[in-house]
Amino acid sequence: MQVFVKIRDQQYGPYTSADLEKLVQSGQFKSDDLVFSEDQQEWIRAEDHTAYQSLFQNESQSEKKRTVFAVGGGKGGVGKTVITASLGVGLASLGKQVVLVDADLGGANLHTCMGILEPKFTFYHFYSLQRDTLEDILLDTPIENLRLISGTCGTLGLANPRYSQKQRFISSLKKINADYLLLDLGAGSSYNVIDFFLAADDRIVVTTPEPMAVQETFNFVKIAIFRALQRLFRDNQTVLSLLDNDMFAEPGRLGTTMQQLLHQVEKADAQAGKQIGEFLDGFRPRLILNMVHDSDEAREGVALKTAVLELLGVQMEFLGVIEYDESVRNSVKELKPFLINDPRSKASRSLAKLISVGLLKKTGWKGFRERRRVIRQVADEAQSYPTNQLKESDVICSVNCFYWGDCDFQNGGYPCPVRHLDPIFKK
Ligand SMILES: Nc1ncnc2c1ncn2[C@@H]1O[C@H](COP(=O)(O)OP(=O)(O)OP(=O)(O)O)[C@@H](O)[C@H]1O
Ligand SMILES: [Mg+2]
Repeated sequence: MQVFVKIRDQQYGPYTSADLEKLVQSGQFKSDDLVFSEDQQEWIRAEDHTAYQSLFQNESQSEKKRTVFAVGGGKGGVGKTVITASLGVGLASLGKQVVLVDADLGGANLHTCMGILEPKFTFYHFYSLQRDTLEDILLDTPIENLRLISGTCGTLGLANPRYSQKQRFISSLKKINADYLLLDLGAGSSYNVIDFFLAADDRIVVTTPEPMAVQETFNFVKIAIFRALQRLFRDNQTVLSLLDNDMFAEPGRLGTTMQQLLHQVEKADAQAGKQIGEFLDGFRPRLILNMVHDSDEAREGVALKTAVLELLGVQMEFLGVIEYDESVRNSVKELKPFLINDPRSKASRSLAKLISVGLLKKTGWKGFRERRRVIRQVADEAQSYPTNQLKESDVICSVNCFYWGDCDFQNGGYPCPVRHLDPIFKK
């Protein structure tokens, strides 16, 4: 039997039952989309058609287990984007449905990392209401099970969406049908970045072992905690003013430790003190230490974890270490995620371990087996991954650029992440 369907007013088909099952599994066809009923000669909701009800039995279950990860961390250039892309590849290789989301509103480059130089749709189409849902701007990637929502660069106003636009984005994100959504956040600790970080179910911070990066990551976690507490107590002036004392302390420093602050709040409002305690218990950011050269540097992760616990009262989970590895640099030039570019490099093996042991919590023999599975699957995918050659017409970083000397992305020879400002580059 073949059937026509309607998804958001667009007609598709005819589809066989097997086709339809695939569309349901990928989240493209939902129970409240329409099918044409031959019997009744009209469009009816798919879940009301007896022949298709069984397809949606798992729908609510799969929606429940969707996890939004945010990858942030304060400092620029520490590897958030390259790690997000490869995390996505690794999870997809294990059969999970994964969506990468470029939430770096000021400097989107996740698409470049995936070898997509001209994304057909970007966040801009959603933001400007040209597309209704985020599903409409999902792009396929060369990896099975891995899709991408591309960000937009250089569009004025987009780097600073209004609160309501951010909320629309976040609530739409939570409707995408996938096992994992991975948000690549921009650098810095502005509220735009922090709000996305807080909206996620699982929050990952990436830092390198350098003191400046560690300091900025500490500050990022601190601002995230205070922003969340400010929102929790937005109607409680007493608590807000106590929080303000710390919020405006010198960057990276606290006027008081979280424990002292908690005492002050408890004295003023015992119930609020209890709420803060509960919030801190549940707020468990996870840490990835990237570009590590040796075991001394690896210890910086432990130091940061201790500082966050002692000063901010929050337990941080150390997810793992990724070594400094030239193959990661090469992968950026090849426009491929590093896990694909060299699945057996040091960095790739560490990431596979981080996924199976750190994220998926497979321990002992199971962890080891899962790690090998990631590497094997990815090595298979790597065989057919398209090789991207930059065309002469591709805008690359150049001294001829209007912004030369004043650009955060001035990497020399890499595809330009602000290429959407094309008219400026044209001679
Ligand atoms: N483990 C590593 N070994 C070697 N080089 C690395 C490693 N991780 C990242 N890099 C290099 O660091 C550069 C910056 O990485 P990336 O763009 O992912 O940082 P970012 O944190 O997303 O930066 P931004 O905050 O500006 O978005 C990459 O081009 C890559 O070459
Ligand atoms: Mg980035």
